[in-house]
Amino acid sequence: MSNAPQKTAANTTEGTLAEIVSHAKEYGFVFPSSEIYDGLAAVYDYGPNGVELKNNLKQLWWKAMTQLNQNVVGIDAAIFMHPLTWKASGHVDGFSDPMIDNLDSKKRYRADVLLEEKAAEYEKNGEIARAETLLAEMGRLLTIEDLAGVKQLIIDEKILCPISKTGNWTDVRQFNLMFSTQVGAVAEDSNKIYLRPETAQGIFVNFLNVQKSARQKVPFGIAQIGKAFRNEIVARQFIFRMREFEQMEMQFFVRPGTEDEWYDKWKATRMRWHQVLGLPADKLRFHDHEKLAFYAKAAVDIEYEFPFGFKEMEGIHSRTNHDLTQHQEYSRKKQQYFDADIDPETGKAYGNYIPFVVETSVGADRLFLATLCQAYTEETITEGEGEKEQTKTRTFLKLHPAVAPIKAAIFPLVKKDGMPEKAEEIFNSLRHDFRVIMEERDAIGKRYTRQDLIGTPFCIVVDGQTLEDETVTVRHRDSREQTRMPISELRAYIGEAVSFSRIFEKL
Ligand code: GAP
Repeated sequence: MSNAPQKTAANTTEGTLAEIVSHAKEYGFVFPSSEIYDGLAAVYDYGPNGVELKNNLKQLWWKAMTQLNQNVVGIDAAIFMHPLTWKASGHVDGFSDPMIDNLDSKKRYRADVLLEEKAAEYEKNGEIARAETLLAEMGRLLTIEDLAGVKQLIIDEKILCPISKTGNWTDVRQFNLMFSTQVGAVAEDSNKIYLRPETAQGIFVNFLNVQKSARQKVPFGIAQIGKAFRNEIVARQFIFRMREFEQMEMQFFVRPGTEDEWYDKWKATRMRWHQVLGLPADKLRFHDHEKLAFYAKAAVDIEYEFPFGFKEMEGIHSRTNHDLTQHQEYSRKKQQYFDADIDPETGKAYGNYIPFVVETSVGADRLFLATLCQAYTEETITEGEGEKEQTKTRTFLKLHPAVAPIKAAIFPLVKKDGMPEKAEEIFNSLRHDFRVIMEERDAIGKRYTRQDLIGTPFCIVVDGQTLEDETVTVRHRDSREQTRMPISELRAYIGEAVSFSRIFEKL
């Protein structure tokens, strides 16, 4: 890179999904699962940079839930659960998607997704009312489980298979999304268990264990991060819809009658959390559910504008006391809580009740994808002056330093004159606090570029002056500006930039 002043044109652009997928693979964020065997559809592995970014996002969620709220505690329940759990929760009988096949292409689609895509097309053309009417009608038909009506709607809307371009559809059928396997040596139906399709039920069945052991009083919450599995039929859009994914869920148990107020509070808190982490307000929106489960009082999605449009990233649900009531019935164990607080209306204790639940549920992988999409930046820059002036495109990940996989890269300017030794000394003084790396190979410009591509916020360069006065240059990823600073200030400087407290203060 030239030392001449650099001008940056203000025309940064966002990446397309294809660019982001290929960037994620090339720079060690996300790989297709078992790729040497040509991959496994809708399953992905996180690479060395991906796992760091994902862990940082999970830590920010976990701490925001359990550290900032005295009345939210965590658990880590097993993936396998007693099979009756899924009878009680309704997943065995009702956790299905409406599917439709095209007879010519033999491709299978989710009927609701076909209709949603049609509505999105109307919305894009400015036909907002038409889009809303279509979604409302779809919601109505799905709520009353009128699958013939859903098929008719697809025909009326003249929706064609994107592959065969025909409207030669089968009937709409429900398809259960749970994966099953067997416990023990004998493959009998009685040994059948499921891979959990959501982490929430591990929280519900532990409600009283947690309440008693953590001495919590309603209102309180239980948070959990863990894997969930769904046999998704329409597996598209990279890690947006996977068969094995990770959820970050929190069930907040409240006194009946207070659920609306808690629903509003968690809605606002969760939206704010996403914004504070760096997703801009104009790329986030609430979307109320068209189809409410029969027991639900309210449900809303927080949607992010991915390169393929606004899509669900998190769900916030007011679930009444349905889940705990179901578990009480199926397990025959009381799931009641005794509330000793005095009801001002009666002057008596609120007494025994099954708490209502407000749930927040965000997919760690969707949050990861949103973060990556938001960070992916292509910028036109002009380098050099006069005859040497040239324009090029710089790609970098504008990640918040707190989530960046590597916080700082330390470079000796050249591999001699004691610079590598000094760089190693700095590396050793920082590695206990931060994930830092040291790099000696290639020209300095190339080393900057490599770090830009994985979103490292700072590059620390040891040069001739360092050996004289114990200062280094710190090069900033986003502005490419360099500042000189004493080595003794590096820890505090990086610490401030990557601090979770600075994020949490804004919540
Ligand atoms: N306990 C409530 C529940 O599971 P959900 O809306 O089905 O609700 C919650 O899922 C979140 O989990 C979604 O908002 C999404 O972020 C994530 N999620 C769901 N299915 C997913 C999939 N197949 N791949 C990746 N993430 C998924």
